[in-house]
Amino acid sequence: MSSYIASDFHHYRQLYKQSIEDPETFWGDFASSEFTWHKPWDSVLDADLDKPDISWFSGATLNITENCIDRHLNDKGDQTAILFEPNSIEEQAQHISYRQLATEVNKTANMLLSLGVKKGDRVCIYMPMVPELAYAVLACARIGAVHSVVFAGFSSKSLADRINDASCNVVLTADGGFRGTKVTQLKSIVDDALTQCTSVNNVVVLQRTNSKVTMQEDRDVWWHEAIDGQSDVCPAEEMDAEDMLFILYTSGSTGKPKGMVHTCAGYMVYANFTFRNVFQYKPGDVYWCTADIGWITGHSYILYGPLSAGATTVMFEGIPSYPDTNRFWQVVEKHQVNIFYTAPTAIRSLALCDISLVNQSDLSSLKTLGTVGEPINLEAWDWYNLHIGKEQCPIVDTWWQTETGGIMISPLSGITKTIPTFATLPLPGIQPCLMNEDGNEVLEMEGEGRLCIRHAWPGMARTIYGDHQRFKDTYYTTFPGKYFTGDGAKRDKEGNYRITGRVDDVVIVSGHNLGTAEIENAINQHQSVVESAVVGYPHDIKGNAICAFVTLSPDAVVDQDDFRSELLDLVASMVGPISKPERIQICTGLPKTRSGKIMRRILRKIAAGETANFGDISTLLNPESVNEILQVAGQQSPTR
Ligand code: PRX
Repeated sequence: MSSYIASDFHHYRQLYKQSIEDPETFWGDFASSEFTWHKPWDSVLDADLDKPDISWFSGATLNITENCIDRHLNDKGDQTAILFEPNSIEEQAQHISYRQLATEVNKTANMLLSLGVKKGDRVCIYMPMVPELAYAVLACARIGAVHSVVFAGFSSKSLADRINDASCNVVLTADGGFRGTKVTQLKSIVDDALTQCTSVNNVVVLQRTNSKVTMQEDRDVWWHEAIDGQSDVCPAEEMDAEDMLFILYTSGSTGKPKGMVHTCAGYMVYANFTFRNVFQYKPGDVYWCTADIGWITGHSYILYGPLSAGATTVMFEGIPSYPDTNRFWQVVEKHQVNIFYTAPTAIRSLALCDISLVNQSDLSSLKTLGTVGEPINLEAWDWYNLHIGKEQCPIVDTWWQTETGGIMISPLSGITKTIPTFATLPLPGIQPCLMNEDGNEVLEMEGEGRLCIRHAWPGMARTIYGDHQRFKDTYYTTFPGKYFTGDGAKRDKEGNYRITGRVDDVVIVSGHNLGTAEIENAINQHQSVVESAVVGYPHDIKGNAICAFVTLSPDAVVDQDDFRSELLDLVASMVGPISKPERIQICTGLPKTRSGKIMRRILRKIAAGETANFGDISTLLNPESVNEILQVAGQQSPTR
């Protein structure tokens, strides 16, 4: 075991101390002892968090796929790298060895080269959770193309926005994707998106569902035809440490989604370090993260973290409720999963199901449980601990973000004492701090504030693609010299952190970050809508749900049911089905300050069911609007 992977709590403390006292030696020694490099670095870290201008391992060259694949071939060539569990229980699971992975990634890389894809080109990947998605991601990295994976649940408009923002040349997709009993028509969504894009020369279409698709001559090619005859040897492109590895979009509190840029070396080092430390992966373990590769969790903890560590990583195509709500537990038993990593929203919905269904599966292979994506409530934590972990498995509540590249605050499995609902302690190299609203640091150990990080770490995003100013404004301006996470947190006497949730206009619904501004934009497209305000409110299963307050133009005559479904359709098509409001409330006016700012704080409280304690509303432009909204709120039921 590497001396950089904590073996007990004392060791963790030692590593933490070293990493804070001398971060460059710490990360430099870890990076040189654990990875394959072509050229060593000139300096470990050059960081100016005011600009911000951050570079790790500059001067070094490498290719991440050599670290995720080639270097394992000697001693792990026959070990399963990816264990693919299909949507249908009728279809056989696939055990893809490291050797097969090498073959498939190289062939896919050669396919991309034959289409003219070069180092630095952006490739959009809009695919279901099948092995070819993993091959595609790694093939891009192999040839130095920048992957931009778009979750295959996004609408054609969202897909088009992301393709245009990154000027992608190629889209990799499939005819369709299986999700439980449903088939998503991915190719036709791509076709629709591409009516709004000019940068795309080729679309490669994987046959998965045998859905009928229209192939556009000169643009579209079938995957099986394009890959046929490609060589299984493809030399890895030598990449500079700070060359772009991928772009991944995340919702912002205002405006369009942000294309977070991660670069080759720092991201690799951090994904590997955190995977091994947090999950305490041991050779032979079967590890399963249930996320989709369309999100950062899938990037870092289905692919890059586990594969760089030579692990066996499960990739699941389906959904937790198909064919039955015990599917997760059946898969755990079937593949003897040792480490299981999922989201609180999944835990909450599975906890509602008949417990005898859980108990039908033998879960004794499990050693470690993980959660990610939103704060986990106590009931869900207890249920997970009792019914899945049988009180024998540490729960690692991992706090991190698309922007951070990897886990930042979390217990290390079996090492850190867990506390329900607490993400507990920072990983080595991570220096969190709490800031109060006046911009001062909370110096007492026990306290509450806005969560910031004060020193650079290797996995941090380097910029927003094409908009460095927005990167600076969003993350490095509120508290100069520090990275501002957008989350609030509490800290206890021992220094354990509990994340309390977003402090900006991002709402986390079923673990997905949704920007309220984007949803408002979609709603405002409706011809009868004058303006809207979208807020989140607590929801038992989803964590949060969306409530939209909408005002109509005076001459609008709308049938309420039709109007609601038109709004839902608009949101689904412009943003994506996951962003549909749970509740829509029509009002005559939205509460505003005298300067015209909508008082979302009051609307948040109303949506949460509060009927009083809105503070002094007499200074509002239209104080009467609050009572009107309250009256209507009392009479309304959810839209779906
Ligand atoms: O609010 C925090 C919440 O999810 C946000 C990041 O979302 P995203 O970039 O989509 O990445 C999700 C997967 C890493 C954070 O700002 N969040 C994530 N993990 C936790 C969490 N909130 C509380 N506890 C967590 N463990």
